[in-house]
Parts: sequence; structure tokens; C-alpha cells
Amino acid sequence: MSIPELAQKLDAVNTADEEERKLLLQACDRLKSRLETPFDFTARLSFSGHQAMAIRLAVDLKLFDTIARLSTQSQDGFFTTDQLSESTDAEPLLVTRIISFLAAMGVVQEIDRGTYVQTKLAASYVSSSPLSAGIIHSTHFLTVLSRLPEYFHEKGWQSPGDAWDGPFQYALGTNAHYFDFLSSHPYYQQAFNTVMAMSFRRHGRDWFELFPVEERLRVQNDTDPLIVDVGGSQGKDLKMFKERFPHLPGKLILQDLPSVTANAQSLPPGIEVQGHDFFHEQPVRNARAYLMRTVLHDWPDKQAVQILGRLRAAMNRDSRLLISEYMRPESNVSFSSGLADIHMMTSFASLERTQQQWKTLLETAGFELIQVWLPDGCDAASESLAEQAALLEARVKE
Ligand SMILES: C[S@@+](CC[C@H](N)C(=O)[O-])C[C@H]1O[C@@H](n2cnc3c(N)ncnc32)[C@H](O)[C@@H]1O
Repeated sequence: MSIPELAQKLDAVNTADEEERKLLLQACDRLKSRLETPFDFTARLSFSGHQAMAIRLAVDLKLFDTIARLSTQSQDGFFTTDQLSESTDAEPLLVTRIISFLAAMGVVQEIDRGTYVQTKLAASYVSSSPLSAGIIHSTHFLTVLSRLPEYFHEKGWQSPGDAWDGPFQYALGTNAHYFDFLSSHPYYQQAFNTVMAMSFRRHGRDWFELFPVEERLRVQNDTDPLIVDVGGSQGKDLKMFKERFPHLPGKLILQDLPSVTANAQSLPPGIEVQGHDFFHEQPVRNARAYLMRTVLHDWPDKQAVQILGRLRAAMNRDSRLLISEYMRPESNVSFSSGLADIHMMTSFASLERTQQQWKTLLETAGFELIQVWLPDGCDAASESLAEQAALLEARVKE
């Protein structure tokens, strides 16, 4: 088959099957990396920020909401740049420039000069969609990313290690930590909370499917604290735990910053909500387990030790510390693992840790690592670590 014929065949390929879809995308990625010249690769990478930002601008202007409304109002589903411009305070020329770039990216489709039609992609960026929150959240960090070279030139080429003196503070000219910043910027706080609850952050098996819950997480009375979810955001983990183990006695306590717990909604009875800053004394003592899911990767060792110290002081001999995190393999780091690590460094002066780095951190904080729980066949060297969060079980070192 000639290459033009093959290309034509490829144009016709489609599938509704999820496994097949992934297989095809992986094959396309491999094909792309074989065919792309270094110039193609560089050009694609260098201007990816522009594309994300064009979507972000349209999200901020609520253009996707307007597009969705206009699409249902017109018989053919078409909308014009004039109609879009009428819906915003933005200058029509600016709206035209944004929408024509979005058309070039395939986010909307141009039918005729100044006339467009919505696509599946455009529909997925309306304000109520989690993907619009994802774009708000991720583009915010472009400011910080773009200042990394100056940061390292000025501060020295060292891995950042202080949550209050990292790339984020440098780029924004602030002393505030990212989480303090969020609490006074509801637009970004809301986007962050939405991203935290998105399913892409929960691939692989849930922590409570890896751990022998029935055997190890037992308390006598309903008034005894069973699990404190420290930095538990809006309670998704405890909610899922409660659905999975409705019969287990004991209190489930959700803790996060008051600005986050204030928005925790529709939690079932049996989950108590506490606004609590984990740098302060832990108010719940002797719980059976203190859970931290993807919390400590936000903090460099300097602050992680302080946070763990507060938990340690509240724990008794039977208490367990349960840390659910995507561990970084020692070698052959996957793209998503490497990306997460650079993202942690940029946002929080933090890092994705290997099993050994977790062990060292826990020991420094006065804990003993009892076991690392992973599904059978997955270990600390496994590439599948990018797809499966490990559960580290630790207790206070005597
Ligand atoms: C990466 S999110 C993880 C949320 C949740 N455990 C999950 O896996 O979806 C980290 C959480 O830590 C919370 N957090 C940050 N600083 C905190 C503090 N000082 N005290 C309590 N929670 C804090 C954030 O508000 C956020 O909800």
C-alpha cells in the first residue's frame, strides 16, 4: 500500500471501544515520534502554551458557554463572531483573533468567513465542565514556569526545598504559599478543588482496595476515630470509603483548610468535617488511621517533616499513618511521573518521591515504614507506578 493510500485509510479510522482507542492513540504517538523532525518536535512544544492560553482566554470570556447557547438556538447550529462579540465586553477584533486560532486548533470548526460551528471539544469547555477548571488551573502555572530560568540563575541551580521560598513565590513576587494564595482567590481555589476531584487523578485501584481494611482498620465504638483524612479536600475519599465499608464502626473525619471544607457538600452522615491547618496541633488524637492522599508530594522535606510531626504527636502505638501517593520509580520514569515531578517543583518547591525517599522522609520524621501496598506484580521499579498509587503504611517509631 502506498503512503498516500495508507494516510487515507488512517483518516477513516475510528472506534468507540476504549481499549482500542488507547491502542490507536499509542500507535499514533509512536508514529509521530518516529516521523517528527527535531524542528517539528520543538515547534509543537514551544507553542503548546499559546494553545492552552487561547482556550483559557475563551473560558474566562465565557465564550464556550455562549457558543453552547447559540448552537442550540440556531437551526443549523452555526454561530458568528458578531454574535459572540455581543455577548462579551471584549473588543470584537480580539474575539475574532481568539476564535480563529481556536478554529485552527480544531476546537471550533469554521463553516464560512466569520461563521463557525461547535465541536465536541468546545462543548467540553463550558463553565460547568471540569475541563474548563483544568485549563484555568494549568495555565495559571505558565507564569511560574516561564520564570524558572531566572529563578535558578538567581537562586543557584539547586532543587527548591522550601515551600515558602520557591519558584511560585519568586514568579508572583509574594511571600504566600500557593495554598494561601488560593484561599484569597476563589476562581483558582474552585478550579483547584474541581481538578482534585477529577477521575484522571484516581487511576488504578483505590487505596482501600490495596489495604486489608476489615482486618486492620477496626475500632470498638462509633464514637472512636477510625480515619482522619488529612488534607482530604472535599471528602471524595471518605465518601468512597463509606460507600465501600458502610458497616465499619468509628468516626470518619475530613480535615482541610477552612476555605476548602467550607465548600464540602453532600457528604453522607458519619463523616465529620473539620477546618484544620495541618501545621497546627492535630485535634483528633489516637485515631486508628491518619490518611494523607497525594498531600505530602505538595511539600518538600523541610515542611513534610513538620506536618508529619503534628500527626506523630497525636498518634498512639496502634495508630497507622497511611500515605497514598504515586511513587516515582528509581529509573525509567514515565512521562506522567516526570511531568508530575517538575510540576511539584514549580508549584510547591516539592517533589515526587521514590520509595527510598519516602522511607528516608518517614524515618527523619520519627516513623517506621511497615509496608508498601501495591497490587500483585507491581513494585517500586515498575513502570506501572505511574498508573497506580502506592499505599505506604507506617507507625510511630518507638
Ligand atoms: C493535592 S490536594 C489532595 C486532596 C485529596 N487528598 C485528594 O487526593 O484528592 C492537597 C490538599 O491539601 C490541602 N492543604 C494544603 N495546605 C493545607 C494545610 N496547611 N492544612 C490542611 N490542608 C491543607 C489542600 O487544600 C488540598 O485539598
